[in-house]
Amino acid sequence: MTTRAITQGEVILEGIVKNYGTFRALKGIDLRIAPGEFFALLGPSGSGKSTTLRVIAGLEVPDAGRMLVDGTEMTFAPPGERNVAMVFQNYALYPHMTLEQNIGFPLKMDGVPKAEIAARVQDAARKVRIDHLLARRPGQLSGGQQQRTALARAIVREPRLFLLDEPLSNLDAQLRLETRIELKRLHASLGVTTIYVTHDQEEAMTIADRMAVFRDGEIMQIGAPAEVFGRPDTLDVAAFIGSPPMNLIPARIEGGEAHFPGWRLALPGAPAGDVVVGVRPGRIRLADDGLPGKLLLSENLGEAMLLNVDVDGTLVKLRLPDVSPIAEGTAVRLAFDGSDILLFDPETRRRLDWPEMESRP
Ligand SMILES: Nc1ncnc2c1ncn2[C@@H]1O[C@H](COP(=O)(O)OP(=O)(O)O)[C@@H](O)[C@H]1O
Ligand SMILES: [Mg+2]
Repeated sequence: MTTRAITQGEVILEGIVKNYGTFRALKGIDLRIAPGEFFALLGPSGSGKSTTLRVIAGLEVPDAGRMLVDGTEMTFAPPGERNVAMVFQNYALYPHMTLEQNIGFPLKMDGVPKAEIAARVQDAARKVRIDHLLARRPGQLSGGQQQRTALARAIVREPRLFLLDEPLSNLDAQLRLETRIELKRLHASLGVTTIYVTHDQEEAMTIADRMAVFRDGEIMQIGAPAEVFGRPDTLDVAAFIGSPPMNLIPARIEGGEAHFPGWRLALPGAPAGDVVVGVRPGRIRLADDGLPGKLLLSENLGEAMLLNVDVDGTLVKLRLPDVSPIAEGTAVRLAFDGSDILLFDPETRRRLDWPEMESRP
């Protein structure tokens, strides 16, 4: 992380609506991204992440709402006046130009003197570790090197905002992990506000300072990854975050206990009524006294075992560190602690908090 005070690059979206014909792709997006922040837009395909990024870049004009950068309204400013750099999934490099020419192209368009272009291209290329490749053409590069070239071309203009739309999705798994770390390092050294679109929650969790979870053109939750993971606001976020995501098990609270079919769990202070109990797969164990179920399938993950258990018609997944196999069809009992669960209201779909739960460490 950078320690230098960053004062520019604050982005505010207020009530952004975007229609494509009769289809409303963005239904009123409100966001406040702090200067220098690494902010992820996370959500399934078609949820409006790219459209939001394109509104910020000036590639789409919203039908309602406004956007401010550093306090100045920019909603209708042309892209060229926004001082933003954008990197897409397909890097869009010019095949007939060398890397040096590709990276320097935006500066050439801006009329920057040749000597300065050469110096800035060197500098940008060094930051993404491709300065030894400048004489090559894109066709002579690996996917990862092309990706770095696209990054260098974006940072060479020293933009106020750095916008990345699924920039790693064309890379293989190993390279994706490496480039993720590089991006984080690059962000720390540049200190530029970075807005990062991804449908990969693990990517968002590991790379972002904060994230917004999108669904159907709306933001469902904004927060630091650990907050969103630890306390999803709604059943929809709970069902989306985590791999596999939180188990969601119907129950009824009465007299400070959660009643499941065949098991009760003490939950002092929990509000009475029908609930959905949320519990992470890693927080459930096999026990003598617990929720009765039948093992459907065990998946060996190498370091752990993922058990799929039918609990009165609900599929419950639990992750166990020890990998001794259990026969499918075996009757099992599942237990977890009251301090590891969240409750949701099945009607409003929102998280239910109670004093004992809120005072957890
Ligand atoms: N130019 C367009 N014309 C019509 N519909 C579009 C256009 N761009 C995006 N959409 C629709 O808007 C919704 C959101 O798209 P998008 O922002 O690209 O989603 P995401 O990036 O989250 O996958 C999708 O349903 C998509 O089909
Ligand atoms: Mg997209």
